[in-house]
Amino acid sequence: MQYKKLEEKIKFCRKCHLRDTCTQVVPGEGNFNAEIMFIGEGPGENEDRQGRPFVGAAGKFLEEMLSLIGKKREDVFIGNVLKCRPPGNRDPMPEEVAACWPWMMDQIEMIRPKLIVLLGRHAMERFLPNQKISKIHGQAMRREIPEIGRQVFYVLYHPAAALYQGSLREILKADFKKIPKVIEAIEKGKKGDLGDEGNEVEKEEKNRFEEEDKQEALF
Ligand code: URA
Repeated sequence: MQYKKLEEKIKFCRKCHLRDTCTQVVPGEGNFNAEIMFIGEGPGENEDRQGRPFVGAAGKFLEEMLSLIGKKREDVFIGNVLKCRPPGNRDPMPEEVAACWPWMMDQIEMIRPKLIVLLGRHAMERFLPNQKISKIHGQAMRREIPEIGRQVFYVLYHPAAALYQGSLREILKADFKKIPKVIEAIEKGKKGDLGDEGNEVEKEEKNRFEEEDKQEALF
């Protein structure tokens, strides 16, 4: 299936009631061959109005951070776990998240990013349950997801949280700047051609492997 076809399907989705109250579906946007996919929780008011993800203040900050690593919005893929805005930005119901989840899985399968960056606690919880963002932000973790297989995730504080809480701003920027190194390490690991840094990564992987939920930290 082509990405555009998938997008059409997402736009016509009626699997939960959120479509009755949102203005339009926000499937996500960007480069379908992107190495990096950014995933937030769900559309807010601005996104709902424009049909595009991360277009408000948080989106501006995200773009600013992308420029720190020499990238633009068009170079990456930006999406959300939920494609429709919950009324008044309330927390989504479990059945809404469950209804939307297969779309996210289809998007990941199609784009096959090297790295998925989870923006904020809510997005993190969907992929890496039972973790604390204060502990794992700025760390790459590899995890087996039944629908998509092994995937590397990188957790960041949500740009909106950093806008409200000034103390998170510099932490978020510092974590963001590490993304190219994470990609480099993933590439080295894949080729089996481990340089010094790769060896460190491998060592760390072994040290920090978390048996219970099959999550392993790479950094
Ligand atoms: N916050 C999100 O999580 N997603 C958006 O698209 C906008 C704000």
